[in-house]
Amino acid sequence: MPGLSLRTMTDIQLSGRPVISATGLFTPEESITNEELVASFNEYVDRFNAANAEAIEVGETEALTYSSVEFIEKASGIKARHVMSKQPILDPDVMGPRWDERGNDEWSMMAEIGVTAAKQALERAGRKPEDVDAVLCAASNMERPYPAMAIEIQQALGIEGFGFDMNVACSSATFGIQTAADYVRAGNAKSVLVVSPEITSGHLNWRDRDSHFIFGDVATAVLVEDAAIAPEQHWDILSTKLKTVFSNNIRNNFGFLNRASPEGVGEPDKLFVQEGRKVFKEVVPMVAQMIIEEAEKLQMDPKTLRRLWLHQANAGMNRLIAQRVLGHEANDDESPTVLDTYGNTSSAGSIIAFHLNSDDLVAGDTGLICSFGAGYSAGAVFVRRVG
Ligand code: COA
Repeated sequence: MPGLSLRTMTDIQLSGRPVISATGLFTPEESITNEELVASFNEYVDRFNAANAEAIEVGETEALTYSSVEFIEKASGIKARHVMSKQPILDPDVMGPRWDERGNDEWSMMAEIGVTAAKQALERAGRKPEDVDAVLCAASNMERPYPAMAIEIQQALGIEGFGFDMNVACSSATFGIQTAADYVRAGNAKSVLVVSPEITSGHLNWRDRDSHFIFGDVATAVLVEDAAIAPEQHWDILSTKLKTVFSNNIRNNFGFLNRASPEGVGEPDKLFVQEGRKVFKEVVPMVAQMIIEEAEKLQMDPKTLRRLWLHQANAGMNRLIAQRVLGHEANDDESPTVLDTYGNTSSAGSIIAFHLNSDDLVAGDTGLICSFGAGYSAGAVFVRRVG
């Protein structure tokens, strides 16, 4: 190609190959241990049962039952969770996060924590905001319907171009990565930030014994870029695969046509509800099969995957999925968990696992970022370390 510089020719050769240039993580300072959570829950149970003693006595109301630290850890692997608002969650009279409503001239909470994670990703990639083309805010819950959180994050970072929100529950981040990768593949963008501020404490029913221990708050960011501009050290995105199958087994009916009361009391279906056992049984085979089939398409033996960064919802689910994919029981090195300290952080979970447990891999190592959750939805991102 006469007339083209070497740099331009390299760009053309590499153009359209999506990579992960860097990731970022924001972790709230406050954390709640199982012991603290259960003490508060059981105090609520005592108060409820005392206040309703007569109705319970005559069988009109069912007495509430204690939660237990042992059950929580055994059933889920969760030992603690970070939250944006600890004290009200532990107050048996409130049992939910509370914060002052922010004015229109203040950064919203999701934007604030999303920006912190995004700045870290940009810094790690050596990327300036003005070189980013788009921002996707991919999360389970949005603070408001519009203007999009992504556009506020874009503005706060000083990014030109465009942004929009997307919600695929626990799979939002992996769906965001594929969307960003597709922009790169199509040549519509060279640098896309996928930001996942997950303030899941807001959708959790802290009075529900079956699920009060599940969720925690966090924000992650993934910078998906064209290999042509990526830093020397990055992760090639070898393939992405998404899948959805409708299910009511994880559901939240909150919406703008159907709002929950400010306390979230009396309307538990406007918060997170699930049939945990059914989720477990139905999602494990669906996800394992998706991973194995996609590996086959890549002509890759899934057993050769060096590491799985799986969705962080339940340690037992991860154990089973990893076993089916790798053909043996995975150790912590092969399938690291962050459940113990972060709990289930919805779509951010697999990204936290990747962010905290990927620096030790070497060039050529392959791994899998994988999410699954409500929808049902599942997303797989096969990556290979470069540099
Ligand atoms: N403390 C003590 N006991 C509890 C309890 C608590 N907080 N919550 C429930 N139990 C009891 C139940 O009453 C039940 O008792 P029973 O057998 O006498 O009726 C027993 O523990 C088992 O309850 P179950 O809900 O069936 O527990 P489980 O072992 O299935 O674990 C989950 C529950 C939710 C942790 C588990 O099913 C799970 O994680 N599933 C997947 C969830 C998931 O990934 N969701 C995605 C969200 S994005």
